[in-house]
Amino acid sequence: MIKEFTMSSQDLMHLEDRYGAHNYHPIPVVLSRGKGVHVWDVEGKQYYDFLSAYSAVNQGHCHPRIINALVEQAQKLTLTSRAFYNDRLGRFEKYITSYFGYDRVLPMNTGVEGGETAMKLCRKWAYTVKGVPTNQAKVIFARNNFWGRTLAAISASTDPSSTTGFGPFMPGYVIIPYNDLAALEEALKDPNVAGFMIEPIQGEAGVVVPDEGYLKKAYELCKKSNVLFIADEVQTGLARTGKMLCCDYEGVKPDILVLGKALSGGVLPVSAVLANDEIMLTIHPGEHGSTYGGNPLACAVALEALEVIKEENLAENAFQLGNYFREYMQHNLVEKTDIVKLVRGKGLLNAIVIDDEEEGQTAWQICLKLADNGLLAKPTHGNIIRFAPPLVMTLAQMAECCEIIEQTITDF
Ligand SMILES: Cc1ncc(COP(=O)(O)O)c(C=O)c1O
Repeated sequence: MIKEFTMSSQDLMHLEDRYGAHNYHPIPVVLSRGKGVHVWDVEGKQYYDFLSAYSAVNQGHCHPRIINALVEQAQKLTLTSRAFYNDRLGRFEKYITSYFGYDRVLPMNTGVEGGETAMKLCRKWAYTVKGVPTNQAKVIFARNNFWGRTLAAISASTDPSSTTGFGPFMPGYVIIPYNDLAALEEALKDPNVAGFMIEPIQGEAGVVVPDEGYLKKAYELCKKSNVLFIADEVQTGLARTGKMLCCDYEGVKPDILVLGKALSGGVLPVSAVLANDEIMLTIHPGEHGSTYGGNPLACAVALEALEVIKEENLAENAFQLGNYFREYMQHNLVEKTDIVKLVRGKGLLNAIVIDDEEEGQTAWQICLKLADNGLLAKPTHGNIIRFAPPLVMTLAQMAECCEIIEQTITDF
């Protein structure tokens, strides 16, 4: 076979370093191929992917059914804008609304646009249905939330690395501690509060799992105050945590549901906001949109990506493998070493916390060693390592990966 590309990893990293903005600090591997749970670098070394592009590749890299849907649709029609109807959008809308049990969907592209759309819907509902005075609506967020990088999103952020140097910020946010029902109850006393937007597990904050019952009680408190419960399931949704939605663990049906990432199986940016008529129909033609939102290519891919999740029982698999992973880590690392303080998570969204006196250096070094040993993961917030492989992993592969992680950390 003729080599299509002869640049080494070093050369390619140098290109990014020299010509790209320095807004990321990647693990030094250069990937050129992916299939299922595996990725390969340009030198041909194989790795288990334990990040799944921050949970966008739940269905596994280059899932044949999803790629097939992509290629077939790409040869017919890719983009019309919403100036015209297209023959994929209505089909996708019917499919996804019945899949999740909502009246309507508003399709966008990235996760942050999904969050932004949810905020706009919430404010519009506040003014036109709830009766909040003009421009006075507030949305409650939890400390350490993460929903993207736009100015609206970082205006809700409490992380200085997200906010420093980017002000002034958007008003209308109330920040309370995560997993604190008393604080929520207090904040809900303000009659101008329109919504409470929450990650059922805080992913970027380091896979922070709230107490059992928190989501259900928070939902009930919102209902009592006529406030919309908005679930940001961009990272936790679509089988990642062992249920189709993480809110399903507590039988909570959000008033507004935000999905993204794995909605396309990692193929192209697709996000969606779901809600019932009372909320969704507050936005009228010309008031919100996106050139690419609802494009036929995205619709064809997302429909297939959703079908794959159901037909391959990915939620059930994530649930089972997640239990195996946490039990293994608890027994072999938390209880037997000093270096791993705890393991936490749900389904296949998990993290270990490293006892790290060197401000994240140990976790970073462990991830470099894991890469050497054929497994890719990345630290978050210094001493936390997230483990989130594609959900198509088998038990035998998971067992092998647990051994790699154990060996790497005990050798450390
Ligand atoms: C919970 C949550 N919401 C929103 C986003 C933003 O998604 P995107 O990067 O596609 O804009 C992320 C990204 O990590 C996320 O974890």
